[in-house]
Amino acid sequence: MPSQNDYDVIIVGAGWYGLIAAYTYLELAPGTRLLIVDDGESIGGVWNTERIYPNLFAQVGHGLFEYSFYPMKKEGLTKDRYISGKTIHDYLQSFAEDFDLVRRIKLRTTVTDARNVDGSWILTLNGDDKTRISSTKLIVASGVTSGPYVPDFPKDGFAKPIIHSGQIGTQIAHLTSPDVQRATVLGAAKSAYDTVFLLLKAGKSVDWIIREDGSGPLAIMPPKLAGLVNTVDIMGTRALASFSPAILNTSGVWYKFLQKSSIGNSLTKMFWRSVTWMAEWQAGYSKSANTEKLRPIPSGYGIFWANSGLGLASVPDFWKVVHAGDLTVHRTEISGFADHNKVILKNKDVLETDQVILCTGWTDNLGLFDESTRVQWGLPSSADVGNEWEKLDAKADKIVLEKLPFLRKNAPDTETPYSHTRPWRLYRRLVSPSMAAQGDRSAFFPGQIHSVYTPLVAEMQALWGVAYLLGRIDLPNQEEMEIEVATWCSWTKRRYLEQGRRHSYSIYDYLAYVDTLARDLGLNTSRKSNPFSEMFLPYRPQDWRGLIPEFLQAEKKKGITGNEFKTLSSNGNLGNGKLAPCIEVEDLLNYMGKSKVT
Ligand SMILES: Cc1cc2nc3c(=O)[nH]c(=O)nc-3n(C[C@H](O)[C@H](O)[C@H](O)COP(=O)(O)OP(=O)(O)OC[C@H]3O[C@@H](n4cnc5c(N)ncnc54)[C@H](O)[C@@H]3O)c2cc1C
Ligand SMILES: *[C@@H]1O[C@H](CO)[C@@H](O)[C@H](O)[C@H]1NC(C)=O
Ligand SMILES: *[C@@H]1O[C@H](CO)[C@@H](O)[C@H](O)[C@H]1NC(C)=O
Repeated sequence: MPSQNDYDVIIVGAGWYGLIAAYTYLELAPGTRLLIVDDGESIGGVWNTERIYPNLFAQVGHGLFEYSFYPMKKEGLTKDRYISGKTIHDYLQSFAEDFDLVRRIKLRTTVTDARNVDGSWILTLNGDDKTRISSTKLIVASGVTSGPYVPDFPKDGFAKPIIHSGQIGTQIAHLTSPDVQRATVLGAAKSAYDTVFLLLKAGKSVDWIIREDGSGPLAIMPPKLAGLVNTVDIMGTRALASFSPAILNTSGVWYKFLQKSSIGNSLTKMFWRSVTWMAEWQAGYSKSANTEKLRPIPSGYGIFWANSGLGLASVPDFWKVVHAGDLTVHRTEISGFADHNKVILKNKDVLETDQVILCTGWTDNLGLFDESTRVQWGLPSSADVGNEWEKLDAKADKIVLEKLPFLRKNAPDTETPYSHTRPWRLYRRLVSPSMAAQGDRSAFFPGQIHSVYTPLVAEMQALWGVAYLLGRIDLPNQEEMEIEVATWCSWTKRRYLEQGRRHSYSIYDYLAYVDTLARDLGLNTSRKSNPFSEMFLPYRPQDWRGLIPEFLQAEKKKGITGNEFKTLSSNGNLGNGKLAPCIEVEDLLNYMGKSKVT
C-alpha cells in the first residue's frame, strides 16, 4: 500500500526542463503519481519571479523560445523580438496552470539528499531526516545556471554588500537606489554583461574586473547581423549550422564540402572571420581603451570559438549604454576586500565601492548526490581522473580531429589554468551508460546542454528521457554508449575550448543534437516543406508540433514491423541499417582495434 510520501516519479526543478518532463510523463503514462520539487518561491527556475528583473531579456527571439504546442504571448518584446524575463515567467506559470501541474509542484523545498536504494529513490527534503519521500523514477532537472558559484575572498572589515548575480532580482531596489553610486562587478560571462548594463543604465559608476589570463571576455553577437537580419533566426538555420564543425553531423554533402575539403575549410574560416568582424564592428571595441579590453579571444575568431561563451546583445541599446556609461575595465583579479569599502586588486590598485556583484557563474547543482552516486550515475565526479575514461577520451579525440580537421588545423593555443575537467558522462547527455546497461532505468538528467534554444532541446530531451524511463526506447550496449560519451566530451572541448571543457556546450550545433534524439525516437527530422526552407529558414519549435503523437505512431509501427527504429540492439549488434548517425560506431570500434561488429 503506497503511502502519501511515495510517488511514481519525482522531478527536481520546476524550470523549462522540469515542467516539460512532467507534461510528457503524464502524456505517455496518464495517472502517474508525480511530484515536482523546487526550492524557489515561484515556478520557472531561472525565470521565476524572484530571479527576473526589468531589463533582463532572453537571447532568443519570439517564436523560438516556447514549447512546440504552446505559443507564447507577444508581450514584453524588444523591437527586435527579444523576450523579457517577465513574459517567460508568465508563460511557464500559465503552462503549469493549463496542464494541471501546479497542484503537483512543491515549492520552497530543497532536496538535500537523493540515493538509489534497490532500484528506487529515497529523497531527503530540507536536510531533515524525518521528511523523506520516495519514488520509483527520478528526473533531475536542477538546472546548470541556478546554483551560484561564490569564490571565497578575505573580507577584513569590509562593510558593503557582496551578492552573486543570481540575487539581482531580489536586490534590484537596493542596486538602483542612491545608496549605490559605485559598484564593482567581477566576471566575464553573460551574467557580467547583463549586470554591467543594468548598473550603467541606472546611472551608476562601474568598475569591471576581468582576469587577465583565462578564456577572456564573452563573445557577443549583435541583435541583428549587419543591422539587417535577426541573429537568432540565422543561428536557427541548417545553413549556419553546417559551418560549425559538429560531431553529431558528419555526413551529407555540406559536411563533405565545408568540413572535409580544404576549399570548404577555407570558406568556413572566411565565414567565421567575417561574422566575427561584423560582430566586433557593431560592438565598437576600438572606440575606447576600456572597451578594447572587452575584445574576445582568440583574436579574429571570437564568435566561432565562443571561448568564454556566446552572448547576444538582446537588450535594446546594449553597446550604446556601455560606451556612454561611467565604466572602467580592469584586466586583473580581486585579492580581497578590506577597510569598510575597499576592493584590493591583484595589480595592487585599490578601488572604493558601495556594492560588489560576483558574476562568477554556477555550480553543477548536483549537491543532492554523494560522491559514490555521482560516480555510479556518470555525473561530474573525481572518479574521472586517471581511469578508463582517459584512454577512451584520447581515442575519441583522434576521431574528432579526423572527422573535423578544421578543429585540428585552426586549434588556438589556449591552455588555461582550469583545464582539469569533471565532465558529465551521460549517453545522449541524458542517461548513465553503466546504469542503463545494468537495466536500471530509474533516472535521467535533462538540461546540462548549453544552447540558446532551451525549450526545444527540453521538449526533445523530455520525450527521449521519459521513453527511456518507461522502457520504450532501445539502447546500444555499454561500450558503445561510452564511446558516444567520450566522443561528445572530446568534441565539445575541441570545439568550444574553455566553455567546452567546463560545460556541455553546443551553441551552433543544437539542431544536430535535436535530430539525433528525434531519430532515436523514430521521428521525421526534415520538417520543412521543401529543401530550400529546410536549409535556409530558421527551425522553430512549432516545426516539431505533434511530436508525441508521432512518437506513438512510430512505436506502433515498430511493434508491427519489429524494432524498425532500433539504433543498436542490446546485444551490441547494429540495428537494421538505421543506426543514428551521431558517430559512426563502426568506425570507432575499428579504430580502437576492436573486432568489427556485424
Ligand atoms: C540570466 C540568465 C539568462 C539566460 N538566458 C537564456 C537564453 O536566452 N536562452 C537560453 O536558452 N537559456 C538561457 N539561460 C539558461 C537557462 O539555463 C535556461 O533558460 C533554462 O532556464 C534552464 O532551465 P532548467 O529547467 O534546466 O533549470 P532552471 O531554470 O535553473 O530550473 C531548475 C530549478 O530547480 C531548482 N533546484 C535545483 N536543485 C534543487 C534541489 N536540490 N532541490 C530543489 N530544487 C532545486 C533550482 O533552484 C531551479 O529553480 C539563461 C540563464 C540565466 C541565468
Ligand atoms: C547535417 O546537416 C545538413 C545540412 O547542413 C542536413 O541536411 C543533414 O540532415 C544533417 N545531417 C545530420 C545527420 O544531422
Ligand atoms: C517529413 O515531414 C515533411 C514536412 O511535413 C514531409 O514533407 C516529409 O514527407 C516527411 N518525411 C517523411 C519520411 O515522413
